[in-house]
Amino acid sequence: MERTILITGGAGFIGSHVVRRLVTRYPQYRIINLDALTYAGNLENLRDVENAPNYTFVKCDIRDAEGLKKVFAEHKPAGVIHLAAESHVDRSISDPLAFVETNVLGTVTLLNAAREGWKGAFEGKRFYHVSTDEVYGSLHDGGFFTEETAYDPQSPYSASKAASDHFARADGNTYKLPFVVSNCSNNYGSHHFPEKLIPLMINNIRNNKSLPVYGKGENVRDWLWVEDHASAIDTVFHKGVNGETYNIGGHNEWKNIDLVHLLCRIMDKKLGRAEGESAKLISYVTDRAGHDLRYAIDASKIERELGWKPSITFEEGLERTVDWYLANEAWLEHVTSGAYQQYYEAHYAR
Ligand code: NAD
Ligand code: DAU
Repeated sequence: MERTILITGGAGFIGSHVVRRLVTRYPQYRIINLDALTYAGNLENLRDVENAPNYTFVKCDIRDAEGLKKVFAEHKPAGVIHLAAESHVDRSISDPLAFVETNVLGTVTLLNAAREGWKGAFEGKRFYHVSTDEVYGSLHDGGFFTEETAYDPQSPYSASKAASDHFARADGNTYKLPFVVSNCSNNYGSHHFPEKLIPLMINNIRNNKSLPVYGKGENVRDWLWVEDHASAIDTVFHKGVNGETYNIGGHNEWKNIDLVHLLCRIMDKKLGRAEGESAKLISYVTDRAGHDLRYAIDASKIERELGWKPSITFEEGLERTVDWYLANEAWLEHVTSGAYQQYYEAHYAR
């Protein structure tokens, strides 16, 4: 079946994996990657597919109603997979409004554009809103987030994502927009911006810089390999039921400090350092304000109803991830120096 799919935020970490997967797995689809190229958007992430005949990049902000209207008129997408967002919790603490603008206003503007572009003819259409487990808040005494867990966002980032989830569902109820939502746990893998825990630690270990562990390092996150999230998104987009929510996770909880020690051990081996050498770089720093203690996803619904499950173990995924960063030092250099921001000018803005 020929189909045009609009992916927002496709130049970011997870978005680039979703774009690559759909461009290569579905040559009969046209994939439109719409991205504003903020600091987190990096077209170098998509170098390997940028010349594919079924791939198009459009530089546009999801808050730009006129720009979105043109994109819908020109490309006539039948599906939207919406990943564009401000995604870093620490940034949301210093600038909450930026998160309201992109995550809330941007999502509502995109929902409006989809409804108007589809002119109420929703047969064969789908709006897929990609969200996070952080909307459920923080777990303290065991238990897992299920699709029925009440929303209890604790940071400006998660509050903005929760609001955007509510708008997607409200559009389904009010205008009968066919939608699906998924809420995923922490992702890790290649092309991850080194402001987030795992790529930051890999980059700092590599450069013999200190490894800042917030608080006592006892916070727990549930890690999923980004390519498994991309496969889950593919599954939900194609097999999910309209109006439903799917939690996605890797059954893989780690205390931050244990994870940092594991990374140090892997990197010692890869870099030929004496065992324990990298761990000497660990430094406990002031805790994140309002730091959520634990996230853990119950992913049984997507496993049972859609037949999805993670494809690799954490040990395997982490090793592959470290190998990727060590083999792609130029990518890291460009990201840390800011050179990646010239890629659009050099390759697209001719
Ligand atoms: P990211 O920060 O790496 O990428 C975000 C992308 O969105 C970038 O390419 C950026 O340029 C683009 N963007 C930002 N503002 C925009 C705007 N106003 N208009 C158009 N494009 C804009 O984020 P990520 O980690 O890849 O996360 C993608 C989505 O998945 C987000 O919605 C996030 O909330 C969600 N999510 C992330 C994780 C995770 O662990 N990273 C887990 C669960 C859910
Ligand atoms: O759970 C899904 C969420 O995971 C996504 O919605 C977010 O977009 C994504 O950024 C991620 O949020 P976290 O806040 O969990 O990820 P981060 O990598 O920023 O931090 C992971 C844990 O590590 C968290 O407990 C804070 C801690 N941390 C983080 C950094 C950057 C440190 O101890 N030191 C650090 O330098």
